Amino acid sequence: MPAKGSWRSRSLLLPLLLAPVTQAIDLDLNSQESIASAASYAAWGMMTWYAGNETGQTPGKLLNTWWEGGAMFMALMEYYHFTGDATYNDEIIVGMEWQAGDGNYMPSNESNYIGNDDQMFWGLAAMTGAELAFPEDSNSYSWLTLAQGVFNTQIARWDTSACGGGMRWQIWTWEAGYTMKNAISNGGLFQLAARLARYTYNETYAEWATKIWNWSISTPLIDTETWEIGDSVSMGNNCSTVDSTRWSYNYGTFLSGAAFMYNYTNGSAEWLNVVNNLLNATIDLFIPTSYNSVLTEVSCEPTEICNRNEILFKGLVAGWLAFIALIVPSTYDTILPHLQRSAQGAAESCTGKGNDTCGIKWYTGDWDHEIGLEEQMSALNVFWANLINKDNASSYAPVTSHTGGNSTSDPSAGTGSGSSGTSSSTTTTITTGDKAGAGILTAVVAAGIIGSVYFTLSGN
Ligand SMILES: *[C@@H]1O[C@H](CO)[C@@H](O)[C@H](O)[C@H]1NC(C)=O
Ligand SMILES: *[C@@H]1O[C@H](CO)[C@@H](O)[C@H](O)[C@H]1NC(C)=O
Ligand SMILES: *[C@@H]1O[C@H](CO)[C@@H](O)[C@H](O)[C@H]1NC(C)=O
Ligand SMILES: *[C@@H]1O[C@H](CO)[C@@H](O)[C@H](O)[C@H]1NC(C)=O
Ligand SMILES: *[C@@H]1O[C@H](CO)[C@@H](O)[C@H](O)[C@H]1NC(C)=O
Ligand SMILES: *[C@@H]1O[C@H](CO)[C@@H](O)[C@H](O)[C@H]1NC(C)=O
Ligand SMILES: *[C@@H]1O[C@H](CO)[C@@H](O)[C@H](O)[C@H]1NC(C)=O
Ligand SMILES: *[C@@H]1O[C@H](CO)[C@@H](O)[C@H](O)[C@H]1NC(C)=O
Ligand SMILES: *[C@@H]1O[C@H](CO)[C@@H](O)[C@H](O)[C@H]1NC(C)=O
Ligand SMILES: *[C@@H]1O[C@H](CO)[C@@H](O)[C@H](O)[C@H]1NC(C)=O
Ligand SMILES: *[C@@H]1O[C@H](CO)[C@@H](O)[C@H](O)[C@H]1NC(C)=O
Repeated sequence: MPAKGSWRSRSLLLPLLLAPVTQAIDLDLNSQESIASAASYAAWGMMTWYAGNETGQTPGKLLNTWWEGGAMFMALMEYYHFTGDATYNDEIIVGMEWQAGDGNYMPSNESNYIGNDDQMFWGLAAMTGAELAFPEDSNSYSWLTLAQGVFNTQIARWDTSACGGGMRWQIWTWEAGYTMKNAISNGGLFQLAARLARYTYNETYAEWATKIWNWSISTPLIDTETWEIGDSVSMGNNCSTVDSTRWSYNYGTFLSGAAFMYNYTNGSAEWLNVVNNLLNATIDLFIPTSYNSVLTEVSCEPTEICNRNEILFKGLVAGWLAFIALIVPSTYDTILPHLQRSAQGAAESCTGKGNDTCGIKWYTGDWDHEIGLEEQMSALNVFWANLINKDNASSYAPVTSHTGGNSTSDPSAGTGSGSSGTSSSTTTTITTGDKAGAGILTAVVAAGIIGSVYFTLSGN
């Protein structure tokens, strides 16, 4: 293990972390210190994959992926929120601002290949910064402004040319997913709109959240009889059919958005019904007893075909579940045991390479010889998620502009030129190498709907 000498936080955990290095992460779920220590190991391992703070490197950029930078900083903000360990705070602020473009996460280096879902993960990270009152650089965009910038650029792309509405997956005509509407793009904007409504108390955001929800359930993407959520629908047949692939983050993002709407509405019965049904569906499908009631990406883990994106999905869900437990208190007792078993499984997987490297599968009780950024990030998320506590839930719940949040608002943020992603043309030559660094691509969808050629071009 690298030395832990870089700790310079107000954390009370220091003595424990200077203890002799153990062979594996010994997770004691009854000890906040033990959980925080596990999170610190996973965070450290994650950051060995990040070179953006080194000379000549680009802050916020990870190798062969752009969207995961947003997910990484989100995880690190949450880690700080629950542990007080500020080791990575400077890198978070620098990276988040560096990639911000004109305040809307359409940075010119990447913007030709960004999908709505890719941009959204940075927007959700910025929203997290506002809600956790994470330190800001007063000379740069505020966290809230950045989240509003993403919201504004995305609602301008709301597409009524087919299917009665909805967000396309991709922004640009030259991207193969341009003619598809998918769950994560719509569910991402739904979640962001709900969180903006709750933070700002501005009803316009809530109306958008409801509109996106209404549209989503009007298509086969979300079935409100079975509470199943598909991955994507095609504009070619006016979104009349849906695939049968099930990804945990599609469920998680709609569940999270519904939870924020529940909280925003001071406890609406309709949103609570959505939360309860989607929570049950998420647990039944992705935390099933057949996988030891541990979070599992069932569409790819058992068959060992997960791509980089897919390894991260369940980590995102773990983090969302933790906040759902805090803002929909009636779900707390249901959610916590699932997070606990998942963290225990993750810890058992973090025994690789003699240095606590984490694997993909959390349900096997052992390391599966996998190694990577996404493995570390997912483990980090499920560890900090276990630092929620019923007795002081409101101390860790996301704040609003009335309850301690002071991030500056700019309702028209991000609407400058070059950001709309409508029909403006470009003369840029698109190379295979560029595409390889672009957006989220779901392998099974790509193979099934687009064709395998595109998949080989655009892994991340
Ligand atoms: C763990 O060891 C492997 C193999 O030596 C190395 O690639 C990896 O960077 C190490 N991880 C950490 C967190 O030190
Ligand atoms: C970059 O951050 C890592 C921690 O993630 C730290 O160990 C390293 O010293 C930093 N590098 C620079 C050049 O600041
Ligand atoms: C754009 O890419 C160049 C070349 O890699 C890099 O130097 C620069 O920092 C990047 N800019 C942003 C905003 O990421
Ligand atoms: C496509 O679906 C929308 C929403 O259900 C509907 O309003 C519209 O009439 C449909 N268009 C066609 C051409 O079927
Ligand atoms: C959403 O659907 C409900 C029920 O059909 C309707 O009452 C409401 O006006 C719709 N809201 C928006 C913003 O479309
Ligand atoms: C929730 O309750 C607060 C405090 O009573 C009130 O100010 C706010 O308007 C309510 N929100 C909604 C959406 O009804
Ligand atoms: C969710 O599952 C729990 C436990 O099985 C059950 O008690 C509850 O009624 C379910 N809720 C809904 C809305 O189906
Ligand atoms: C909303 O979340 C807060 C935590 O910020 C919690 O105290 C409150 O009870 C939640 N509201 C409802 C209606 O559950
Ligand atoms: C919340 O409760 C946990 C467990 O008792 C404790 O470790 C933590 O310090 C508390 N945090 C706050 C802010 O009260
Ligand atoms: C928000 O509050 C923090 C902590 O009190 C403070 O450091 C920061 O300057 C405030 N930001 C704004 C925009 O007022
Ligand atoms: C509420 O949000 C909408 C949409 O961004 C914006 O047009 C409006 O100005 C906002 N209202 C206030 C009072 O901030």
